[in-house]
Amino acid sequence: MNIQVNDFLNSRKKKIEEAMPLFIKDLSTPHSLKESMLYSLEAGGKRLRPVLVLALLHTYNKPEETGIATACAIEMIHTYSLVHDDLPCMDDDDLRRGKPTNHKVFGEAVAVLAGDGLLTQSFSLIVQDPVVTAEKKLRLVAELVKAAGVEGMVGGQVADMEGEAKSLSLEELEFIHENKTAKLLGFSILAGAILADAPEEDIDKLREFSYHLGIAFQIRDDILDIEGNQEKLGKPVGSDTLNEKTTYPSILSMQGAKDKLHDHISQAKNLLQHLSTKAELLEQICDLIAKRDH
Ligand code: IPE
Ligand code: IPE
Ligand code: MG
Ligand code: MG
Ligand code: MG
Repeated sequence: MNIQVNDFLNSRKKKIEEAMPLFIKDLSTPHSLKESMLYSLEAGGKRLRPVLVLALLHTYNKPEETGIATACAIEMIHTYSLVHDDLPCMDDDDLRRGKPTNHKVFGEAVAVLAGDGLLTQSFSLIVQDPVVTAEKKLRLVAELVKAAGVEGMVGGQVADMEGEAKSLSLEELEFIHENKTAKLLGFSILAGAILADAPEEDIDKLREFSYHLGIAFQIRDDILDIEGNQEKLGKPVGSDTLNEKTTYPSILSMQGAKDKLHDHISQAKNLLQHLSTKAELLEQICDLIAKRDH
């Protein structure tokens, strides 16, 4: 069974990696900007968010081609968030996806603008998608703005920064994790469901599902920042401690964080039982997220 999920993830990752540069390479823009955008986009990464869009279409037995542009758009927004997250004024990290961070190669100004470029361009992918109806595009854009913007990832990153060197409550930390990570990851799931014409009751359940999966994903990220391997992760270990971040392990102890992670994973898996379709692939993705080492 696990072979199947790995096959799915690997083959879809390849599809996304082939499709993404095609949306960028012919843009008429300064060479440095294009190089910088492509550098971070092509550096690798798990491609979990775009693959989730395709996993939802697969779950509802719908053609995955409908999700390619939206999936690439989400990966572009995610990549922009990493470029900015690594800047000296934020987490100040030198390694990302196994390579020097964007600003180390292109300088801070171009890195900021490459992030801006990836963000704005991503909306064009959705809006210009020839295989999705105008009504669905509008719904996708509205959801994406909520997930990636001020009431989502951007707001979460600010709360994360302002929480440095402070002792946060579990509630405050959960707000950060929900906003900086769970909402964008959750958008992948919602977008896939919207594109697949999933019933509205399923979409409600999937919203709850993605909350638990997203929090679990960031708890695992916090754990790996302590006990992960830099080679495997492709990013520095110990960044959170250096930046005096409050994390699940720092509040709950390592064992407490692991228990919490499993708690969220089981709640996510339980919710899948209430969908109108079988969701084995999604269940397996939950298990992989719980034990990922990169
Ligand atoms: C890292 O995301 C940032 C978080 C939101 C935790 P990923 O762990 O998905 O990073 P990549 O895309 O695989 O590099
Ligand atoms: C970042 O969280 C979440 C983003 C929105 C980029 P982290 O700062 O923990 O992500 P990593 O560990 O640098 O990938
Ligand atoms: Mg950060
Ligand atoms: Mg960081
Ligand atoms: Mg981290």
